[in-house]
Amino acid sequence: MKEILILGIESSCDETAAAVVKNGCEVLSNVISSQIDIHALYGGVVPEIASRRHIEKINQVIEEALLQAQVDLADIDAVSVTYGPGLVGALLVGVGAAKALAYAAGKPLVGVHHIEGHIAANYIEHPDLEPPFLCLVVSGGHTHLVQVKEYGTFEVIGCTHDDAAGEAFDKVARAIGLGYPGGPKIDKTAKEGDANAIEFPRAKIAGSEFDFSFSGVKSAVLNYLNQCEMKGQKVNTADVAASFQKAVVDVLVSRAVAAAQKLGEKRIAVAGGVAANSSLRKTMQEECGKAGIALYYPSPVFCTDNAAMIAVQGYHEYMSGRRDGLELNAVPNLKIGLRME
Ligand code: KG4
Ligand code: ZN
Repeated sequence: MKEILILGIESSCDETAAAVVKNGCEVLSNVISSQIDIHALYGGVVPEIASRRHIEKINQVIEEALLQAQVDLADIDAVSVTYGPGLVGALLVGVGAAKALAYAAGKPLVGVHHIEGHIAANYIEHPDLEPPFLCLVVSGGHTHLVQVKEYGTFEVIGCTHDDAAGEAFDKVARAIGLGYPGGPKIDKTAKEGDANAIEFPRAKIAGSEFDFSFSGVKSAVLNYLNQCEMKGQKVNTADVAASFQKAVVDVLVSRAVAAAQKLGEKRIAVAGGVAANSSLRKTMQEECGKAGIALYYPSPVFCTDNAAMIAVQGYHEYMSGRRDGLELNAVPNLKIGLRME
């Protein structure tokens, strides 16, 4: 069988990334230039700074990815790139670079949906995982329950009505003084705390059993902090982090397992930055074990933004014959499962 090499490019938020992946699962290189240090100064991602930094880094990161994979552009079968959703100025840098390379080297271009890329990260280390399965997508901008019917066919069966899970982690981390990015810091701090110390709410959405809402738990944490301040009580940061994390994890896990049971899915994959959360992984493992459901999640490096996942999804779309032309544009609010808006 001919080897298929895909160059993946990702620049939707605050990581400039490029990767080369062989046959849809073998990662030959995975280069990530993170901007976290710059954005941490401002407590979150500043879009203009992100775009400028992507422009400065993109060529270097792509060259490094080819170098580490020990391949030339001429060896690549297709260039795949995230074209949405994300910050428009950031996406445009990756899309522009991918179009230039595809045009100059005469290679096919395949635009990839960022969240479909996150889902595809699961194929890297789990060659046995093939659609259909249920995927819980939990990132900084998205919280979705998705039925993956085929490599390129998705049905969203639940989503958040307000904040994404990662967004709630980031906002609560800022409120308790842990800084940006909040998810990994809450994960670490929660290990020192008592998850049953404070009872934060677990929101249910009337009439939509697989949807989520995280703004209530976020507000409950802010109220709790205000009340402590007014009463002159010292806040136990670790207890707040652990109790908040448990409230979010309980909802994510119970809804994912209930959805799998209702739909008759025997496999759940978890994807996106929050999939790196140690408590989510542990609780998922326990509850899936009890329900007889097989659980899949990527290594932490493939949970957060990276270009290997874009190359993997790009591979499946390339193999199915999908191609984009040089009119490919960034689509900041691209919907999952739909090609162009
Ligand atoms: O998927 P991702 O890298 O970017 C988006 O597509 O949004 O996800 C970033 C999000 C951030 O909100 C970050 O705080 C969260 O993932 N995150 C975590 C952990 N690692 C990253 N949340 C909880 N626990 C973690 N260990
Ligand atoms: Zn992401």
